[in-house]
Amino acid sequence: MLSPNSRTDQNPLTDPTDPTDPTDPTDSAGRPEASHPVAVICGLAGWLPPRVVTNEELSQRLDTTDAWIRTRTGIGRRHFVDPGQATSDLAVEAGRRALESAGLATVDAVIVATTTPDHSCPATAPVVAGRLGLTGAAAFDVSAVCTGFVYGLASAAGLIAAGVAGRVLLIGADTYSTIVDPDDRANAIIFGDGAGAVVLRAGRAGELGAVTHFDLGSDGAGEELIMVAAGGSRQRSAGGAVTRADQHFAMRGKEVYRHAVTRMAGSARAVLERADWKIEDFDHFVPHQANLRILHSVADELGLPGTACVTNIESVGNTGAASIPLALADAAARQTVQPGQRVLLTAFGGGLTWGSCVLRWPDLTASGTRGNRKTTEETAEMSTTYEQLVAIIAKLHDADPELVRPEASFAELDVDSLTMVEISMRLERDLGIEVADNELRGDLTLDETVRLIDDKLEAVGSSAGSASSTHRTKG
Ligand code: COA
Repeated sequence: MLSPNSRTDQNPLTDPTDPTDPTDPTDSAGRPEASHPVAVICGLAGWLPPRVVTNEELSQRLDTTDAWIRTRTGIGRRHFVDPGQATSDLAVEAGRRALESAGLATVDAVIVATTTPDHSCPATAPVVAGRLGLTGAAAFDVSAVCTGFVYGLASAAGLIAAGVAGRVLLIGADTYSTIVDPDDRANAIIFGDGAGAVVLRAGRAGELGAVTHFDLGSDGAGEELIMVAAGGSRQRSAGGAVTRADQHFAMRGKEVYRHAVTRMAGSARAVLERADWKIEDFDHFVPHQANLRILHSVADELGLPGTACVTNIESVGNTGAASIPLALADAAARQTVQPGQRVLLTAFGGGLTWGSCVLRWPDLTASGTRGNRKTTEETAEMSTTYEQLVAIIAKLHDADPELVRPEASFAELDVDSLTMVEISMRLERDLGIEVADNELRGDLTLDETVRLIDDKLEAVGSSAGSASSTHRTKG
């Protein structure tokens, strides 16, 4: 369905394989190249099941609206598998097209990143490999939820660096429609099904397509924020009844939102430092397509305009481990990325897990357009807590300035629940205070919020501050 140009077949271990400059022994940061082989992307494709589910269709079944879904998530439609279709069916389609894109008939290893394997045992990758005519290749699944594709890239890069494999097919594939409760309106609107795949070959760090640096991380303390409770050894060994809710995907949306923004921004910064790139050095930011507002918040944290983000979430929703390769395949098909451009991939998912990597875009498309870039400036120095609060609201929410008064409540200003999460994250970042989700309520006035903030500042004995107990409400 989404498939960039084809390439010719080459032996990655014996051919220099189209280097950018075969005499250049330095990597993209001008440092001496690694002595081991480096994974180079040489094929890319995506596949979406044909059935399209619009917001309108969901709103006929669920108590929701197109406007609610678009405002909260940026999603307009998504694709669902038909009854009887499984993750491997999508993975095979994407994998086949990626092999065609690379001009390759065989690989040494097949990795499938997924949260929705066909079965809990065996893994999905061997089945996919077999159906692609790759029986005999190493094949295994990577389970890192929505970070799975980046973890899969790191696994493929490791196999290549160690000389275990010369060519690897990596597929991110998920069918969240099979694990999300269709009656759960908070989750049913977000997720879609799909698969995206890349082929990696052994090459050198100076080549286009070389994936050169990674940052990976996890925090198991957040296990319960994104979970399917039943179906694993924990539930089975405990015995007892399994509820309908236990069998479905569950997510604590607001907490996930916070972690997603913080972890993705942190991981992106970490990998940029490792690669010795600055924010202004890269051309495209391709985040896991979790929720458009998360992506814009992360871009903002990094000092990028939202336009620097490659996104396709409007048309596919959150497709889990498939989301980054689907976004890449979409960008390649639209030629919005050019060979040689610097690309940053960042993901976040259940576990909790997160990860990032950087690469120079391979020669998979004929041409592209360079994205605009500018550095966003944080709010100027503020003299009062009220002014700081108003500046934060103005940055995050398009409220009528006439309505912004100390006695106005968040509800009157039409500040929605996710913007409240973002406001509390800003307060944490800018003022160093923690504001729980349940402390910022719709009926809270700005005046009351200022008192809440000042009380917290006093409690932490704030030296932080531009804000202090002398910062009281204006007017
Ligand atoms: N349509 C209309 N109203 C909805 C709704 C829907 N689809 N889903 C929830 N609501 C309502 C709730 O019932 C609640 O109403 P109430 O205040 O009258 O009780 C209100 O909206 C807020 O509900 P809540 O569940 O707190 O929603 P939210 O503001 O947290 O938004 C998400 C829900 C899922 C959109 C949001 O939490 C989110 O995007 N989180 C991040 C998810 C994500 O990206 N995960 C992937 C990470 S890999």
